[in-house]
Amino acid sequence: MTRNMPSINMENIHHSMKSSFLSCFNFFLISLLLTHPSTSANPVIETEQARFIGTVLDLPVDEQGLARSVHAYLGIPYAEPPVGDLRFRQPVAKIWSNAAGEPINATSLGNRCPQVYNPYFPVLGNYDEDCLNLDVYVPVPVPDKAAVMFWIHGGAFVVGTGSMEILPLSPLAVFGDVIVVAANYRLGALGFLSTGDDEVPGNLGLYDQRQALKWVQDNIQAFGGDPSRVTIFGTSAGGASVSCHVLSPLSSGLFSRAIMQSGVASSPFFTGTDRSHIAKRASNLGKLVGCVNDTSKRLVECLRNVHVEDLVNASAMIHETWVLSNGPSINIPWSPVNDGHFLSKDPTTMLKEGLVNNKVDLMAGQHSHEAMLPIMAFLKDPSEPYINATIFETILTISKTNQAIAQPIIRQAMNLVYIDDITKEQNYLNTFIQIHGDHVYVCPTDAFLRASENADSNMYLYHLTHHPSASIFNTPWSGACHADELVFIFGAHFHPESPFNLTEEEAKMSMQMMKFWSNFAKTGNPNKESEAEEEISSDLRWPKFTSSNPSYKNMSLLMNNGRALKAKECRFWNNYLPTFKSFFDDSAIHGPNKMNGKDEL
Ligand SMILES: *[C@@H]1O[C@H](CO)[C@@H](O)[C@H](O)[C@H]1NC(C)=O
Ligand SMILES: *[C@@H]1O[C@H](CO)[C@@H](O)[C@H](O)[C@H]1NC(C)=O
Ligand SMILES: *[C@@H]1O[C@H](CO)[C@@H](O)[C@H](O)[C@H]1NC(C)=O
Ligand SMILES: *[C@@H]1O[C@H](CO)[C@@H](O)[C@H](O)[C@H]1NC(C)=O
Ligand SMILES: *[C@@H]1O[C@H](CO)[C@@H](O)[C@H](O)[C@H]1NC(C)=O
Ligand SMILES: *[C@@H]1O[C@H](CO)[C@@H](O)[C@H](O)[C@H]1NC(C)=O
Repeated sequence: MTRNMPSINMENIHHSMKSSFLSCFNFFLISLLLTHPSTSANPVIETEQARFIGTVLDLPVDEQGLARSVHAYLGIPYAEPPVGDLRFRQPVAKIWSNAAGEPINATSLGNRCPQVYNPYFPVLGNYDEDCLNLDVYVPVPVPDKAAVMFWIHGGAFVVGTGSMEILPLSPLAVFGDVIVVAANYRLGALGFLSTGDDEVPGNLGLYDQRQALKWVQDNIQAFGGDPSRVTIFGTSAGGASVSCHVLSPLSSGLFSRAIMQSGVASSPFFTGTDRSHIAKRASNLGKLVGCVNDTSKRLVECLRNVHVEDLVNASAMIHETWVLSNGPSINIPWSPVNDGHFLSKDPTTMLKEGLVNNKVDLMAGQHSHEAMLPIMAFLKDPSEPYINATIFETILTISKTNQAIAQPIIRQAMNLVYIDDITKEQNYLNTFIQIHGDHVYVCPTDAFLRASENADSNMYLYHLTHHPSASIFNTPWSGACHADELVFIFGAHFHPESPFNLTEEEAKMSMQMMKFWSNFAKTGNPNKESEAEEEISSDLRWPKFTSSNPSYKNMSLLMNNGRALKAKECRFWNNYLPTFKSFFDDSAIHGPNKMNGKDEL
């Protein structure tokens, strides 16, 4: 749920987003889907450190038509409140020492991390800096040594929450027969400030996620879960987070499988600004809240005393304007960085050098029309979507795609790949959607998988092409948009109060996707539920992705398979573009061929 495109037209985009979507969201606000306390007695879980009182959620009907329920343990703190002197520091494990004392009330959601309001993800409940808590959803009855799915939410690293009101996690727990865990992590400057030096190296939000994963390792057995079968999964910024854990040596042993949905760290959206930009952003934040940069140490000391709401507002302002005023790349400002610890290098370099520290089973994918959302701001009449050549150029500029293709010769190569007849007046709508989708999602994901290939683990690629009839962004024309997978994988349709009412065929598709996701969590193979079972043999079977046979599942009503997704386009972005870039860098070093704009590549 990255707000896809930072742009000079942000006002416009916001306006159009709000006018088209706010109305559909009003009614979400009046229905709190999560808590459905039933009359049954509250369940209690005893861990070595504490006793937790949970709540029973009434639940949808499962495939066999049997009502099932979920025991939810909500708002469990996994770290000390990151406030006061702990602000901008790594999370400190929460130690309970009252196993014999009063049980801990885990019957309602905890605080959400401070953020500005976002109409797409209406977060209800309290916002507080003391927000490092997680929720555990246990299907009843819980299978023996249940597989665990650990959800990392999206929201461009500035908004979102683990348990989402509009997309409850309980249907996946029931239909997948898995324990689902969702954690909050610090957002915006509070989670991703970096001073570019040792004062605050950065990636605090990733350290939070890691701390929550440690909690899972230490405690999930008491809930019936298997700590050796933890699958991390996330979308957008959450997908990028997942890929950072796959890369980082610091996350080794905390999970055994990973699913990256519409986001990997090697995407130009996430990570990778150089240290001087990172430091400048920190000092800009300081200026906005009255902390003048003298040294990093004094800057951070000052920032520790700023009111949290001021920090959140300043952090949001930087999110919206940073790329325009300062950034040479299209990455979003508050995001993972190369801090020398969590990420030893820029993710693209780590991939190139084979520094994928966790050789785990991977599943990854994205959607056919990820860019539909930002482009709507440019359409005069959304019911007749048309982008002419002039507007196409403007969008390339605003999306910063043109920075990647700044050299005329690269631009020509891109035209060659994407445009059949450039003399013809044509509708560039789909051209832009494909360029943006390939540059930011399809090809970075392809590169991530290829670089992670190893003999001991499996990889599966999907491309969602079916646009659900009801979804978060609810974009008007067909084409699967950013975040459209969520209604399917969380079985929204099956929740009694869900606003996402799918058709019967789509409900079947949702059921199948929950099966793929939970099977993968159980066995590392979406085609079987247990090690003993044979793979399904029908057309539904999802073949592995390997570099020599890059198969993918076309997530659609037909669930057909494909091969070599966007092969030509990804050769352009992943092979030719870096080659051109190093050619220009060489020319610049060696003299006469220095080209304008090389810095912008
Ligand atoms: C737990 O907290 C909820 C909500 O704050 C409250 O309604 C309930 O009575 C509490 N239960 C116990 C056992 O303290
Ligand atoms: C503070 O300013 C100095 C000099 O302008 C700069 O080198 C340094 O990176 C800045 N530090 C931070 C944390 O912004
Ligand atoms: C932060 O921004 C919100 C929304 O624009 C505004 O209502 C609030 O007053 C601001 N808070 C501070 C401390 O400036
Ligand atoms: C493209 O559309 C814009 C806005 O509708 C218009 O101002 C412009 O003249 C058009 N350009 C061409 C080449 O048709
Ligand atoms: C959901 O769709 C079904 C048909 O697919 C329809 O019967 C039902 O009334 C719809 N429910 C809502 C709340 O719109
Ligand atoms: C996906 O499948 C649909 C049919 O369900 C087909 O129209 C489309 O071309 C396929 N797309 C890809 C990328 O495989």
